[in-house]
Amino acid sequence: MSVVGFDLGNLNCYIAVARQGGIEVITNDYSLHATPSCVSFGPKTRVMGDAAKQQANTNLNNTVINFKHLIGRRFTDQRTQQIRQWIPCEMIQLPDDHIGLKVNYLGEQRVFTPEQIVAALLVKLKQITENNLREVSKVTDCVVSVPYYFTDAQRRALLAATQMADLNCLRILNESTAVALAYGIYKQDLPAEGEKARNVLFLDVGHAASQAYIVAYNKGKLSMLGAAYDLDAAGRGFDGVLRDHFRHDFKERYNIDAATKPRAWQRLLEECEKLKKQMSANSTPIPINIECFMDDKDVSGKLQR
Ligand SMILES: Nc1ncnc2c1ncn2[C@@H]1O[C@H](COP(=O)(O)OP(=O)(O)O)[C@@H](O)[C@H]1O
Ligand SMILES: [Mg+2]
Repeated sequence: MSVVGFDLGNLNCYIAVARQGGIEVITNDYSLHATPSCVSFGPKTRVMGDAAKQQANTNLNNTVINFKHLIGRRFTDQRTQQIRQWIPCEMIQLPDDHIGLKVNYLGEQRVFTPEQIVAALLVKLKQITENNLREVSKVTDCVVSVPYYFTDAQRRALLAATQMADLNCLRILNESTAVALAYGIYKQDLPAEGEKARNVLFLDVGHAASQAYIVAYNKGKLSMLGAAYDLDAAGRGFDGVLRDHFRHDFKERYNIDAATKPRAWQRLLEECEKLKKQMSANSTPIPINIECFMDDKDVSGKLQR
């Protein structure tokens, strides 16, 4: 039986299995390595991953994204309130200051906790793994990675989510440790024990957070020397800045305010993410074109790195 590792990201998740002496990142039902961290509720079913992301724009009020940093937090937590702007569905306060995500599901109003949403996503990851590893019928044992700065409450909440998803979480692994191991495990030229260690800085710019850590390596040994993180300077923040730019641009040139229509606002964010990726590979001006953006207007613009 192979052990399965889930990289639970804020934007995307990845699944790895240890088999035949190596570690393989497997693909999902769309033949993609990344599975969107998205859960969407409908009148007949709930869907997770790619299927959820595909219908997000037409089902925005019942779609949950950006929930990774909500688990184990209180509703009145300052960070929760900051994250709220990135979540398309309604967020409410539950008894004991818990967070509730309000959606229409199976024809009625339902409220889910972030842990339940994470559990839904984990069920999807489990199904993807089971479809991929035909030799095993059921996946139960897993390892899940979390940012190194996750608190005990956040880790406990994640454990609860794995249990809801009928998974047996063998270990919660820090993302920093996972990265440091991945780098060091096959390195042949590390200094021998007792020699001066090689220090390596890792920088992980994620969607909702950035982490940096310095690791000292000797053969067969690694130690974390220090780490830092930032919950604002990350990919999502860039997307937001680009979106604000085009909001003002479109206001001036088309006389529309994208922020007043949730669907347009979300669509613009997605287009800005694509633009950002193109800008990171090209120094020429990059066009942005959105058809039927708002009030039946097509919009276009340009931005250069
Ligand atoms: N080529 C690229 N150029 C710039 N940003 C990118 C590129 N590819 C991905 N990103 C950004 O990186 C972030 C995703 O990082 P990731 O570590 O996968 O996030 P998470 O682990 O939180 O899901 C997103 O904000 C995405 O837009
Ligand atoms: Mg990540």
